[in-house]
Amino acid sequence: MAFPDQFILELKQNNPIDNVMSSYVSLIRRGRNCVCLCPFHSEKSPSCTVYLDNNSFYCFGCGTGGDVITFVMKIENLDYVEAIKFLADRVGMSMPDEAKNNEASRIKARVLEINRTAARFFYDTLTRSPEGEKGRRYFAERQLSPATITKYGLGYAPDDWYKLSNFLRSKGFSEEELITANLCGRGRNGGIFDSFRDRVMFPIIDLRGNVIAFGGRIIDGSGPKYLNSSDTPVFKKSRNLFSLNYAKKSEEKRLILAEGYMDVIAINQAGFENVVATLGTALTQEQARLMSQYAEEVIIAYDSDGAGQNATHKAINLLSEVGVRTKIIHMDGAKDPDEYIKKFGAARFKQLLDKSGGAIEFELEKCKNGLNIDNDDGKIEYLKRCVNVLADISSPIEREVYIGRLAETNRVNKDMLLQQVEGTIKRRINKAKSQEWTEIRTFQKQYKSNPDSYRHPKEYKAEVGIIAFVAANPDEAEYISQRIAPDHFVTDFNRKVYRVMIEKIKNSAFSDIHSLQSEFTADEMGKITEIAINCKDVNINKTAVDDFINILISSDDNSVDIKDMSNDAFLKYIQNLKNKK
Ligand code: GTP
Ligand code: MN
Repeated sequence: MAFPDQFILELKQNNPIDNVMSSYVSLIRRGRNCVCLCPFHSEKSPSCTVYLDNNSFYCFGCGTGGDVITFVMKIENLDYVEAIKFLADRVGMSMPDEAKNNEASRIKARVLEINRTAARFFYDTLTRSPEGEKGRRYFAERQLSPATITKYGLGYAPDDWYKLSNFLRSKGFSEEELITANLCGRGRNGGIFDSFRDRVMFPIIDLRGNVIAFGGRIIDGSGPKYLNSSDTPVFKKSRNLFSLNYAKKSEEKRLILAEGYMDVIAINQAGFENVVATLGTALTQEQARLMSQYAEEVIIAYDSDGAGQNATHKAINLLSEVGVRTKIIHMDGAKDPDEYIKKFGAARFKQLLDKSGGAIEFELEKCKNGLNIDNDDGKIEYLKRCVNVLADISSPIEREVYIGRLAETNRVNKDMLLQQVEGTIKRRINKAKSQEWTEIRTFQKQYKSNPDSYRHPKEYKAEVGIIAFVAANPDEAEYISQRIAPDHFVTDFNRKVYRVMIEKIKNSAFSDIHSLQSEFTADEMGKITEIAINCKDVNINKTAVDDFINILISSDDNSVDIKDMSNDAFLKYIQNLKNKK
């Protein structure tokens, strides 16, 4: 997919790399550049550099690097076109027409249209068809008001194998498209059938108001309780949150995170707009990051059973990694928020929110699980677990407060507890440091074992030099390309880089090394950026490039036909042969 140069240029100008990166990591200004903890591998000291002069980044720890487009591809897990779209949306630029016409975008648009039509079909079936009676009765039992049903666009999928597919086909959608949208499957006889049957339907709506997927709950009978769309061209479970389209409009800087669709809807109906849930999976890092864009604090309102508590523990960790404060609801007398609200009402639920405890209280409380702390063994084990929790607290003042409190309630010596916690912290720092070293060493090994560069170190260096020179001096590309063809390159990767770069320059589609992005993966762009960075401060002039060219030409002297050489090259060739002897 080729975008006009001018568009990419403008896109990058409007999305300065430090600006984009700072919503994921905190940047520290250092001279002309910035540094940060690398978001792509875990580390304790910053080895990722952001170059403000040419809008690129490179991590010396893991070798990831590139321009702002590469960064977005990696961190948001998007392909090239999606990353461009992401950045365009971010600054309100519209995509060039060419991009809109591309095949992938066309399919996405079709799937969205199918979803919207299907959502309408499910809604109509629920609200105004005789067979929708079953769904209407179900939602009435769960005390959802008609207004709530409309607000969430809830629906009912009839107890029929073909009704939806027949309807959608009558609207001009093909069987293939319906399967791509995940609304239909293909049977053994070759025909298609509806995936959702006799279920109440929950459309998943993204921030732009598109229906991107469905969850369907069984009413009675057998089968899994919920059926959720698997990933499609327009839907990735791990990257979306149910009801975020409403929650983001709320004024509050805090979000409520519930476990299920029904909990979200019940909480919302009770008057709390700022509630979301994951889509049938545990919370992911991407979702945590997404929440951090809308909230400083998240109140976790998971089910009160064991599974819910384990999920809470994981969510606390994920959210704190992205800098979000967490609080945890403690529910007595109900298994989930939906049941709690039904039993005790919205006002009591509000109280629950207001007196929700911090993550540390939750974790300390959890340490008691399975222990009898009235006897000595139980108490010792409990305190050991608590020490581990306390060692996680990064603020010394906060640590001190909790240690004091714990010492008092358990009638143990405070200084002893403090010592234990500090010892644990020291051991952890040492362990982290040695882990970081192991990582760096593995990385170095991988780098060295890159077979091409290892087997031909001299040629590798020459190739890199030529690439860096051409990248910095595209005007010289024609001259250089006449002197050396890609075939002379020894390593596959550099050969491709050189070939693509020369092509791009010929087609005036090159402004700097990052223009190669469209032809390489995000990981490959890391290697290319590394080349550019390593050569940045070494001034490669034309003489040096001549030498590099000769190294490559003479290295494959068997494969070059002397007839095809220019006089100059022939002379050099002979000289090289002499030098070799
Ligand atoms: P109700 O039982 O109707 O109150 O549903 P709930 O929304 O409270 O769901 P529950 O707490 O049982 O489960 C939480 C979430 O996990 C649901 O909203 C679904 O997203 C997901 N889930 C539950 N059961 C299944 C299942 O059988 N299959 C899949 N894929 N996901 C499920
Ligand atoms: Mn429930």
